[in-house]
Amino acid sequence: MTALVDIHLTGADADAALRADARAGLTAYPKHLPPKWFYDARGSELFEKITELPEYFPTRTERALLERSADEIAVASGADTIVELGSGSSAKTRLLLDAFRRAGTLRRYVPQDVSAPALRDALDALAADYPGLELHGVVGDFTAHLDRLPPQGHRMVAFLGGTIGNLLPPERARFLRALRATLRPGEQFLLGTGLVVDPAVLVPAYDDAAGVTAEFNRNVLHVLNRELAADFDVDAFDHEAVWDAEHEWIEMHLVARRAMTVTLAELDLTVDFAAGEAMCTEISAKFRLPGVRSMLAGAGFAVVRSWTDPEERMALTLATAV
Ligand code: AVJ
Repeated sequence: MTALVDIHLTGADADAALRADARAGLTAYPKHLPPKWFYDARGSELFEKITELPEYFPTRTERALLERSADEIAVASGADTIVELGSGSSAKTRLLLDAFRRAGTLRRYVPQDVSAPALRDALDALAADYPGLELHGVVGDFTAHLDRLPPQGHRMVAFLGGTIGNLLPPERARFLRALRATLRPGEQFLLGTGLVVDPAVLVPAYDDAAGVTAEFNRNVLHVLNRELAADFDVDAFDHEAVWDAEHEWIEMHLVARRAMTVTLAELDLTVDFAAGEAMCTEISAKFRLPGVRSMLAGAGFAVVRSWTDPEERMALTLATAV
């Protein structure tokens, strides 16, 4: 069965966005690139490998948390439609789908992702495994196309994995306001956040011994080389993960090992790197529950309840649009 898929983001849109982000980020000081450009086919594979690393606890912790709390979430929510932002393979979502089904409310699942192939694969698998579930895929960017989410049903929008932490505070506020604006009062938001934990545990999660995260980080340079005809010497950049205690976020950097001049032919742009210069490729903010509550309240959501794992490393927070 082929499920309905709305396309709000085409290859041409993504190309224009990459060009704008690369030009802005590489001509700024300090240089930076948005983390969304990690995720081409190879980057997505590397991310999947990261989730299996012994040091990278967030994915397995959130999965275990969902296993324990999905039934309570389903009962507290009562939604008949689960919308998932950045659904990827929809693997963790099955825990939610199963629980909402047991609660007897589930009618519809609306996965949204930037990757059309990933979305189609996920929809095909779900159609086979959940007969009777209405499926409506949306290819789009959760920072840009929230106003176009299908309006049907009483919705709970799930945003898992701690991905909200990859947005800078102003982007985060804009995202939450746009989400609130697209929901009707009483509809819900289920947010997964990483919590502030000991940096001795956290930093290795972003700088693993096998070097998979380093490869993932450097992959953004392969993306620029391919998509923008750039000539980054990818192996001349070191991966670095730093805990910023003031902002309570991990910062991933690519550090130029030597002075370099890089040309991006498609942008008609040449940029210089000094030896030791660091470029920020991702922030991954960690939260405290009161902070989650006030961030949501500031955007027009009232927290119903939060669930955390026994070690308090990840949280799931259910909030209602007021
Ligand atoms: C799961 C996408 C939020 O910030 O932890 C993993 C991405 N970056 N290792 C995170 C990521 C480096 C990740 N997200």
